Order: sequence, then C-alpha cells, then structure tokens
Amino acid sequence: MISRKFPLTRLRRLRQSDSIIKLTSECGISKDDLIQPVFVKEGLKDKEPIESMPGIFRFGCESVLDEIEEIDQLGIKAIAIFPVIDPAKKDATGSEAIKTDNFISEVICSIKSKFPNMLVIADVALDPYTDHGHDGILENNKILNDQTLEVLAEQSIVLAEAGADIIAPSDMMDGRIGFIRKRLDENSFEEKIILSYAAKYNSKFYGPFRDAVNSKNNLGKSDKSSYQMNPANFLEALNEVAMDIEEGADIVMVKPGMPYLDIISRIKHEFKVPTFAYQVSGEYSMLMESVNKGWLDKNVIMESIISFKRAGADAVLSYFAKDLIKEFNL
Ligand code: PBG
Repeated sequence: MISRKFPLTRLRRLRQSDSIIKLTSECGISKDDLIQPVFVKEGLKDKEPIESMPGIFRFGCESVLDEIEEIDQLGIKAIAIFPVIDPAKKDATGSEAIKTDNFISEVICSIKSKFPNMLVIADVALDPYTDHGHDGILENNKILNDQTLEVLAEQSIVLAEAGADIIAPSDMMDGRIGFIRKRLDENSFEEKIILSYAAKYNSKFYGPFRDAVNSKNNLGKSDKSSYQMNPANFLEALNEVAMDIEEGADIVMVKPGMPYLDIISRIKHEFKVPTFAYQVSGEYSMLMESVNKGWLDKNVIMESIISFKRAGADAVLSYFAKDLIKEFNL
C-alpha cells in the first residue's frame, strides 16, 4: 500500500485550475453514451406536452420524424421508443401487442426507412396494451408468468419484423430472455440484440412515465411488486443478471438509475458485460422542475449523468440526452 502523507502529498495540487481538473478526470460523458427515450401516441397529429415531465412531449406518427431528425443531427445513436395506445384497443391480454400492423410497428418502420442508422430500442412488455396496466397476463389477480412468455415472444417478433434493432424486455417475467432469444433465432433474427431490463425495481420513480403512456389509471391501486424487484434487495439483482446473461442477454440494464448506483457498480465489476442505466421519468422530473424553478443549478444534470459513468455504466437512457448535448456542448 502506497502511503499518502501530508505535506508530501497534497491532493489539492490537482484541483488548482480547470485545466488540471479536466486532465485528471477519471471519466467523462460523450454523445456516444446517451440514448433518448421517445413517446409516440396513436392518433395524435402534432405533439403534446406531458404535464408531469416538463419539456418532454408525446409525438404523433408523423411529427416524430422531425424529432428523430433532430436527435440524429445531435449525434445520438439510439432511441428507446414507447407507444401510447388508443384506449379502445386495450384488453385483458394485451392482444394489440402481437398484431403485425399495430401502431408501434408502423412508427418503427417509418423511422427506420428514413433513418436507417438510428438504432431503435423497442420495449417488450404488455402494459401499454392491457386494460389493467400490468406487464403480463392477469387472471384472478395473479400475473401468469409462463402464459405471458408466449405473448412476449410474439411481441418481440412483431417488433423485430418492423425493424427494431434492439429488443428490450422490461416486463420482469422469469425466463423471458431465453424464451425470446429462442423465438428470435427460430425466425432468423439471430442478429437482433437483446437489452434486458435485468435489475428492474418496483419503483415509484416511474410515476411520470405512467402518466406519459396513460397506464396509470389502468393500473389504479394495483402495483407491480409480484414481478418487479424489492428496492431493499441487492443479491437478488445479481441473480437476475446472472440468469439473463445465461439466457442470452447481450446488454443488461439497471433501473431506476441514481438511487441504484451501487447495483450498477457491482454488476459491471462482477459480470463484465455491457451495462446500461436508465435515468427514469421521476428522476428527470425531479431534477428538471427544480432547475426550472431555480432551486437547483442546471449543472446537477451533468452531475447526475457523470455519476452513472463513474459507477460503470456504458450508456445511459436519459430524458436529458438531447438537452445535455445542446447545453453542455458534448
Ligand atoms: C414498462 C416500462 C416502464 C418504464 C419503462 N418501461 C414503467 C413500469 O414498469 O411501470 C419506466 C420508465 C420511466 O419511468 O422513465 N414496462
């Protein structure tokens, strides 16, 4: 062990100027590390603001193309796309999710034909499509794991056929990664990447997202604690990740972000696989509204993003992606 003793060692020597601080910085963030989530709403003409996510909009099938153009020009390599479905199309099994010509397929198809290099990450879960707002099939107040796997595999095929590059199961059913990988391969989609929401916690930080995709009222007082993880658990996250890698996940993700930096760090160091972090809607709204009100300096946004890199995340899904590149000249 090297001993560091004052006055021979003065750690403040390397904090004398901005230049030396930057030169000795241990990590940084670039536009290559950022993924922009995007909401698209069925039947919407232009775009509409999301009240609980200041500065974030839902786009229509056509207006989303202008948004993607801006994202592309900023140098962002990937978007994560989330649909808001016509309420009349929601049912108990989420059957709309597996229709080949559904809204999200149409949107992905038109994005990919105009922006072939933009990586499209498509969420696999039934919550945008079910009338009860759960990610799986619900029967007698229970989420049916194995029956749901079948629908998720079908949903993955629909998304892959539409042109999604990265299939991202966010549903937390047991065994879904292996099930989806097998089905993709059987359909000649060996090259489709699986990004697993491996350690996804049962979090209240998803609140604004559920407003954004209109699933909050469907879910009502029910919660997702029978499939999403207990925020108190750490070892369980390692088990989830180990199983997902074993089943064929190419990239694993931790969600939410900032309250779970310990999980990101441990996973990255233990498994040494590409690890992403999702700075979720509630984290965004909390920071954004405080910045808007002048309660927090806008540099908190950069500080929050750099904390993910320090913890070991390779990329970050963040609603701030566009703004970060613009405001901080990334
Ligand atoms: C759906 C899904 C959720 C989020 C991403 N995919 C919500 C949930 O699980 O209830 C949350 C993202 C966010 O809060 O920004 N399975």
